[in-house]
Amino acid sequence: MLSPEHRAIVKATVPLLESGGEALTTHFYRIMLSEHPEVRPLFNQAHQASGDQPRALANGVLMYAKNIDRLEALGPLVGQIVQKHVSLQVLPEHYPVVGSCLLRAIREVLGAEVATDAVIEAWGAAYGMLADLLIGAEESVYAGHAQADGGWRGARAFRVERRVRESDEITSFHLAPVDGGPVLRHAPGEYIGLRLVIDGQEMRRNYSLSAAANGRDYRISVKREAGGRVSGHLHEAVKEGDVLDLFPPTGDFTLQASERPVALITAGVGITPALPMMEQALADGREVHFIHCARHGGVHAFREQVEALAQRYPKLKRFYVYSEPRTGDQAHAEGFIERLHLERWLPQPAALDAYFLGPKPFMKRVKALLAEVGVPAERTRYEFFGPATALEG
Ligand SMILES: Cc1cc2nc3c(=O)[nH]c(=O)nc-3n(C[C@H](O)[C@H](O)[C@H](O)COP(=O)(O)OP(=O)(O)OC[C@H]3O[C@@H](n4cnc5c(N)ncnc54)[C@H](O)[C@@H]3O)c2cc1C
Ligand code: HEM
Repeated sequence: MLSPEHRAIVKATVPLLESGGEALTTHFYRIMLSEHPEVRPLFNQAHQASGDQPRALANGVLMYAKNIDRLEALGPLVGQIVQKHVSLQVLPEHYPVVGSCLLRAIREVLGAEVATDAVIEAWGAAYGMLADLLIGAEESVYAGHAQADGGWRGARAFRVERRVRESDEITSFHLAPVDGGPVLRHAPGEYIGLRLVIDGQEMRRNYSLSAAANGRDYRISVKREAGGRVSGHLHEAVKEGDVLDLFPPTGDFTLQASERPVALITAGVGITPALPMMEQALADGREVHFIHCARHGGVHAFREQVEALAQRYPKLKRFYVYSEPRTGDQAHAEGFIERLHLERWLPQPAALDAYFLGPKPFMKRVKALLAEVGVPAERTRYEFFGPATALEG
């Protein structure tokens, strides 16, 4: 139980966490990953190396401490954490591991003088309350997945029915359940969790579903990352007929129902969730302004698919921006995306719903440009192909 004294102590430690939150969580991850091999497969080592994951968790803990008296203010953050946790199958039994490592890290980083027994006890109680909140919210998503038509709980075996090369860097994998049953119809923009064992090491990754729901199979489209463990393995070793373990589709970067025109602005492999969103928006009779940025034609995936859709749906306007065009490439603009492009290609920005996704520098730029041309912030949505980070500054 969280007492008024606990609350007061937690609130008093906010400035402390603000100045030292990252050091704390970095230390926390070090303890957890070295001493608890059972949770290691859930965490992506590359995200630890970049510092983004520790920053994301620090932000989560800080927001919580700040809002301990009005947890409803955490609404969107809790939803985002829940989706991420569910996609990687964070389970109730994992919470005590994180809790004990977090408290130990608080003690070791702050020192016994600051992190007194009373401080540790208050944070223990606060963590317990937050853990209960997340465990409850996550269980309702797991239960929803299990009860839905074609749904399931935990991992389900899928066979690679087809591999399709989409560009020099991106290959699609068409996945159908080995049990032959139907699959949960995902909302456009959702992603699955993939569990693999590579060289004896278990790994989990998220991949957006790059085709509209059909109730029968899924398609993921994977960019081969230089030095990437899972993407390298999928590209090099996974053949048609192989079996992969999937966790059910989830996510909150989904097409919101409305009659407004939609702007979809993507770069590189960030195109994947935009494809089912585009199909859904067009099927709903909405105008779609699709802007895609790529280095050049060789790495521009799904151009033919989008062109075919444009033939069927005159309401689809598409624009391609190449930063390093090759001879013969056909683009609507060269270089990086600019304000001028949005002004030219997005009529009535104030009336749009905008969705964007791509590498972080691209996302920072697009977020700023959308604000400049007058797309309302509350109708601008984005997602990260990694831990959530700030796009400002
Ligand atoms: C919601 C969501 C949806 C996604 N959808 C897609 C999608 O549709 N298509 C897609 O291709 N990807 C998608 N991703 C990204 C995907 O989950 C993987 O992150 C991506 O495939 C890279 O994984 P990997 O194992 O190949 O690379 P990793 O092994 O994770 O490495 C990534 C990069 O970090 C470097 N690195 C690795 N370890 C270290 C280290 N210890 N120190 C320093 N650098 C290191 C690697 O060289 C590489 O450049 C999505 C991610 C999320 C969160
Ligand atoms: C109260 C407890 C917890 C809080 C406040 C918390 C908070 C967060 C936050 C803020 C993120 C980032 C979300 C994003 O990037 O969108 C995250 C991601 C994650 N969390 Fe938690 N979490 C908690 C417990 C746990 C537990 C118990 C586990 C399992 C051991 C866990 C595993 C993960 C994983 C695997 C990710 C994704 C990491 C990545 O992208 O590399 N979390 N969590």
